[in-house]
Amino acid sequence: MTKARIAVFSSKSYDKDSMNAANSKYGFELDFYKTQLTANTAKLVEGYDAISCFVNDMVDVDVLSQLDKANIKMIALRCAGFNNIDLDEAKRRGFVVSRVPGYSPESVAEHAVAMLLCLNRKLHKAYSRIREHNFNLEGLLGFNLSSKTVGIIGTGKIGQATIRALSGFGCKILCHDPYPNDVVTELGATYVDLDTLYQQSDVISLHCPLTPESNHMINRDAFAKMKSGVMLINTSRGALVNASDAIEALKSGKLGYLGLDVYELEGDLFFRDLSGQVIHDDVFGLLLSYPNVLVTGHQGYFTDLALDQIAETTLGNIKAYMKGEKTGNEVF
Ligand code: NAI
Repeated sequence: MTKARIAVFSSKSYDKDSMNAANSKYGFELDFYKTQLTANTAKLVEGYDAISCFVNDMVDVDVLSQLDKANIKMIALRCAGFNNIDLDEAKRRGFVVSRVPGYSPESVAEHAVAMLLCLNRKLHKAYSRIREHNFNLEGLLGFNLSSKTVGIIGTGKIGQATIRALSGFGCKILCHDPYPNDVVTELGATYVDLDTLYQQSDVISLHCPLTPESNHMINRDAFAKMKSGVMLINTSRGALVNASDAIEALKSGKLGYLGLDVYELEGDLFFRDLSGQVIHDDVFGLLLSYPNVLVTGHQGYFTDLALDQIAETTLGNIKAYMKGEKTGNEVF
C-alpha cells in the first residue's frame, strides 16, 4: 500500500523532530515546508493526501479553493485555536479540519504565570541590570501576589490550568466564561460578570478563543472599567486586544503592565529571526519600547511535552480521517 503523503507547513526543525519521532508509529510520508501556507504557496499541495498547518497559516477562501482543486479535503491543525481557517467556506466545501485541543494546557498556563511574575518582580530589567553590575533596587519594586485579585477570562483547559497554578500563591481568583464549569469553582475561583472582573482584578489573564465576539474585547471601553495600574497578560490570541487602545492605556498609566505572547499582526513577525531588520509595524515597535511591556513570540505552547503531544495528536487525527473515523478533535 502506498504511504499517505502529508505536507507540513510552517515547520521548524523542532516540528520536524517531534513529527518524525511520532511518525515511526504511523508511517506517513511527511514533507516539511518552512513556508507559511498562503494563496501563493498553496500550489505546493499538489499530490498530497492531507496538509498540516500552524497558527499563522492563512487558510482563506483562495487557499481552500486551491486545496479543493488538488483533491485535498483534510487540514490537520497543529494547534488548539482555529481562527486562521475560513470555517464557513471549509464546511461548504466539505473539508475535515482537525485540531489539537488538549495538549499540555499547563505549558501555556505556566508561561502566563511566568509572564505575570516576571513583570511584577521586573526580572527582565533586573537581568540586564545585574549583567552591567548595577545592583541598585530603584525601580524594581513589586507587589505580593498573595494580596491581589487575578481575573481569568475563559475557563477552558488553559484557563483551568492557570487557576490551578495560581492557587498556590494565595491570591483571590475571579473568572468569567459564558459556560461556567464546576471544576473551576471547586478550585476556589468565583465566576463573575465581565464588568465585575474588570473592576476588581489587579491582574487579568486572557484564556478565551478569538471569535467575532471576542475580537478586540480588550479595548478602550474595557480599559476604562479596569483598575488603575492593572496588569494584562495575553497568551491566547493577539486580536483579543486592541493594541492601539493598549498603548493609550499604557501612556495614561491605566495599564500598569502588559505581557503579550501573542500579537494581532504576529503573522509577519513571529517564528522567524528578524535580527537587524527594521520592523515596519509602528504599534508593535512602540510596545517593545515600554519598560512595563514584556513580549514573547508565541512560545506559550513551546515545551517538550507539548510538542510530543501535538505531533502524536496531529498524526492520529490524520490517521482517523484516512480510515473514515472521527476522533472528536474535528473543528466541526
Ligand atoms: P478551550 O476551548 O478549552 O477553552 C476556551 C474557553 O473560553 C471555553 O470555556 C469557552 O467557553 C470560553 N470562551 C469562549 N468565548 C469566550 C468569551 N468571549 N469570554 C470568556 N470566555 C469565553 O481552549 P483552551 O485549550 O483553554 O485554549 C484557549 C486559547 O488559548 C485558544 O483558543 C488559543 O487561542 C490559545 N492558545 C495559545 C497558545 C500559545 O502558545 N500561546 C497555545 C494554545 C492555545
